[in-house]
Amino acid sequence: MRSKIPSFIMIPSLLSVITFMFYVFCVSYNHISYLVHPITIFFFIIITALLYVLESINHLIFIKKLQFLSKEEKKKILEENEGNYFYRFYRFIFYESKKMNYDGVKKIDHGFDGIIELDNKLPMWWVHLFYITIVFSAIYFFSYLLIDFSDPYKEYNIAYKNQLKEIEIFEKNTPQVTVENAFFKKGLINSGKILFEENCATCHKSDGSGNIGPNLTDDYWINVKEKDLFKNIFSVIWNGSDNNPTMRAFGKSGEIKGNDIEKISSYVYFINKQSKKPLTGKVPQGVRITNKMESEINYT
Ligand code: HEC
Repeated sequence: MRSKIPSFIMIPSLLSVITFMFYVFCVSYNHISYLVHPITIFFFIIITALLYVLESINHLIFIKKLQFLSKEEKKKILEENEGNYFYRFYRFIFYESKKMNYDGVKKIDHGFDGIIELDNKLPMWWVHLFYITIVFSAIYFFSYLLIDFSDPYKEYNIAYKNQLKEIEIFEKNTPQVTVENAFFKKGLINSGKILFEENCATCHKSDGSGNIGPNLTDDYWINVKEKDLFKNIFSVIWNGSDNNPTMRAFGKSGEIKGNDIEKISSYVYFINKQSKKPLTGKVPQGVRITNKMESEINYT
């Protein structure tokens, strides 16, 4: 019997099946780019050409065969092949179910309760769907057993490692700010607050009013290294305190990156400059500095 599927349908669908199998069995999912590799494309072109040749040969054989058949058989076969492909496809899928009528259907008598069951044929589209699910589950079953494909734990691990790698590359390529080029930025206050609460609040309280460490919201400073208030804050966080190692060098030791210190410094500068101060705070320590350390950027 001649294949009913024309090449323009068969070739793309076969190719997609091959691609799918190739993807499942040969390519780990973080190397999908191999699918557009020249060799893959070449492979697909060869397969397409081969399929086309096979299809043409098949067609030739069909025509030759027709000559040897009796008129009746010829008529029957031509009838089967009449109409365009889509009409035949439609018939192929629905014909069986359409033909169904209750007279022609086998009846199963269960006997004891008088109920008769109609043994209908399943509609063809349903049967085909069922076969597809079997093929699909077989592919999944073996790929799950044999290779990494569709294993959620492995997929998670790979994704996680890729993420870490990306972060590493990102950090390498983004230069961190230093005391020289750090500036107070309003937009950094909120993220600085979060970092402050994580790293500094144990000693300075989350509102900066002081605990083990001094009050950061008053005008008194123990450590004065820079002329500019914001830079002084940055410098203390980067270098730590010379006279008290409890305030360690967060930046120098690599514990906190320059960009994050800029955020934290922006927050500390903000709570120091804003007029709303915490109701209670640690008693002032160090020297009072107001005008001398006025920041270049006027905060209003
Ligand atoms: C383990 C406790 C501790 C932690 C954590 C800590 N500090 Fe300190 N901090 C101190 C102490 C103690 C001092 C006082 C140092 C001195 O006497 O020179 C200080 C001083 C400071 C000063 C200078 C204050 C002044 O008057 O000179 C700043 C600014 C500061 N800390 C900010 C921070 C920030 C921002 C963080 C979080 C990244 C932080 N500190 C984390 C204990 C701590």
